[in-house]
Amino acid sequence: MEILDGKKISQEIKEEIKQAVGLRKEKGQKIPHLAAILVGNDGASLTYVGSKVRSCEQVGFKSTLIRLESSITEQALLSKIKELNNDDTLDGYIVQLPLPKHIDEEKILLAVDPKKDVDGFHPSNFGRMALEMDSFIPATPFGIMEMLRRNEIDISGKHCVVIGRSHIVGRPISILMSQKGKPGNATVTLAHSRTQNIKELTQKADIIVSALGIPEFLKADMVKEGVIVIDVGITRVSDASHPKGYVIKGDVAFDEVAKKSSYITPVPGGVGPMTIAMLLQNTLLSCERKSVS
Ligand code: GUN
Repeated sequence: MEILDGKKISQEIKEEIKQAVGLRKEKGQKIPHLAAILVGNDGASLTYVGSKVRSCEQVGFKSTLIRLESSITEQALLSKIKELNNDDTLDGYIVQLPLPKHIDEEKILLAVDPKKDVDGFHPSNFGRMALEMDSFIPATPFGIMEMLRRNEIDISGKHCVVIGRSHIVGRPISILMSQKGKPGNATVTLAHSRTQNIKELTQKADIIVSALGIPEFLKADMVKEGVIVIDVGITRVSDASHPKGYVIKGDVAFDEVAKKSSYITPVPGGVGPMTIAMLLQNTLLSCERKSVS
């Protein structure tokens, strides 16, 4: 069993990005600039956005955090987005999800300029990704693919079961894994809340990507010997014995499933840090694209 160490790989990627930024500085070129919009005070979102901003500092990017009240109107948020679209100093920005219920997420994501959509959530980028055209790939699936690539894990012809059909993870990773390329060419089954007999599917899977959000859902009796397990779940579970009052749990019962796995990602320290590294990668890419156009 080998642990896929997302923390270590993401640090390597961040080091590469830092070097690219250093080179740009030497040449007098623009320093990448990422902005994040955070609406409200959701604890998990605050943590994620905080990590994204800190990571920008680590690699030498400029970053801007825009915090808005949870009571902001949809119209005011759309105005802010228009402002960011027109801000030439920005290479990319993200709108942290989820948004408050009174705001139509789809409307907001559609308003983001696809050229600055480093989350890859705009239909233009998503469609381009699905058609294997140049695009921004959503950071979490991009991170999973990069983790496989850097560990030289061949998924060609393998049966991959993705659990969860979210627009951010399950749907895009199911597309990427089945595409031509390396890694790629997997045979993908996309399982979701209406899937029957999920255990029968996971027991036959060579690779399982779980993006479900149910702590320790995947148990040892649901997987076969030698399986590759990618755990995308990050759920806060109350735990009074912990100083923070909660612990972070993945979708996988790690200790028991690890014993049967050839490769497995831990939580925390697996997919999470990869997501941030790939967001930075997309921002650097956006900055480089602007420089040539
Ligand atoms: N919420 C959970 N994951 C993400 C992400 O990757 N990007 C944004 N913007 N919001 C999220």
